[in-house]
Amino acid sequence: MLSSAAAQRARQLVQQTTKIVRNTTTVSTPSIEPWQSQYIKNRAASSSASESAPSPFYLTATASAATAAAIGSAAYYYQYAGKDAFAMTPAEEGLHPPQYPWEHTRWTKTYDHATLRRGFQVYREVCAACHSLSRIPYRKIVGSFATVDEMKAMAEENEYDNEDPNDEGEIEKRPGKLSDYLPAPYKNDEAARAANNGALPPDLSLMVKARHGGVNYIFALLTGYPEDPPAGAVVQDGLNFNPYFPGTGIAMARVLYDGLVEYEDKTPATTSQMAKDVVEFLNWAAEPEADERKKMGLKVLVVTSALFALSIWVKRYKWSPVKTRKLVYNPPAETKVRR
Ligand code: HEC
Repeated sequence: MLSSAAAQRARQLVQQTTKIVRNTTTVSTPSIEPWQSQYIKNRAASSSASESAPSPFYLTATASAATAAAIGSAAYYYQYAGKDAFAMTPAEEGLHPPQYPWEHTRWTKTYDHATLRRGFQVYREVCAACHSLSRIPYRKIVGSFATVDEMKAMAEENEYDNEDPNDEGEIEKRPGKLSDYLPAPYKNDEAARAANNGALPPDLSLMVKARHGGVNYIFALLTGYPEDPPAGAVVQDGLNFNPYFPGTGIAMARVLYDGLVEYEDKTPATTSQMAKDVVEFLNWAAEPEADERKKMGLKVLVVTSALFALSIWVKRYKWSPVKTRKLVYNPPAETKVRR
């Protein structure tokens, strides 16, 4: 039998211990995924700090504004400091061509197919005397700005090597077919140079992409021949002055003059009209897929932005239990446990 004081002390101890055990069980948190624990800790810390914690919208707005400001200032400084400086003269680089408001280069516009048809006529009647367009087969033009019959007839005007040899082993000539490519004016580069004072008229298929300034440059070049070279300009023998051509001396003379071709749609064939038509046609030759590409691009933008909006909604939906959870911790009144 213990003394009454000792018994009382023992009872006290037992009581305290059970209290601690009970308190401990009450505070044990529900099972938490490891990825959530950090989040909950932060959340508990901030929400217990004060009732006036910033709302999630306020946070989102601040974050968005900060991102926009960061991107904006980077773009602003790139504009001034990020670009290479050019110190070249027009004589070396050529005069910079003006920027024309081309309809077909706009996002939501296609080529003007009547223009393409006129431009093809200018190419055939003027440029094709010196320049090849070797990447364009007749079939590519069918359905774009000419009919099958027109192109079959045009292809048959030219002769091409037969695919198979005849009985004597000779390759015979045959009339052109839709699958043939536009004929070149010269047999090879040497013949082309010989006929042009040593200068090679380049193939025009990809010319719009091959020159800085693209359509603007070629338009400025074709319409930029002055009557006489300006005073003081040095023009080499056999070259022509054109300020847009790097070096200003170009082997190609002015080729477009008012009324040079007669358009079937009765458009007045001024120099600039023909230049505009042929340049847009050359743009088509370099990018025949542009119309399709823009159409597909718009579809892609519509679909992906819809999916993006949906994904934001799903993310908010899935996260809402976590984002709106409130954890409350009630500490035990007093434990007197030595830690
Ligand atoms: C009489 C022959 C001839 C005709 C016709 C002709 N060109 Fe040329 N073209 C040349 C020659 C030669 C060059 C090479 C010039 C050089 O390198 O100095 C050239 C060069 C060019 C260039 C390249 C310029 C550069 O930056 O290198 C373009 C573009 C061009 N021609 C477009 C046309 C177009 C479009 C037409 C039809 C409207 C046309 N040419 C008609 C002979 C011709």
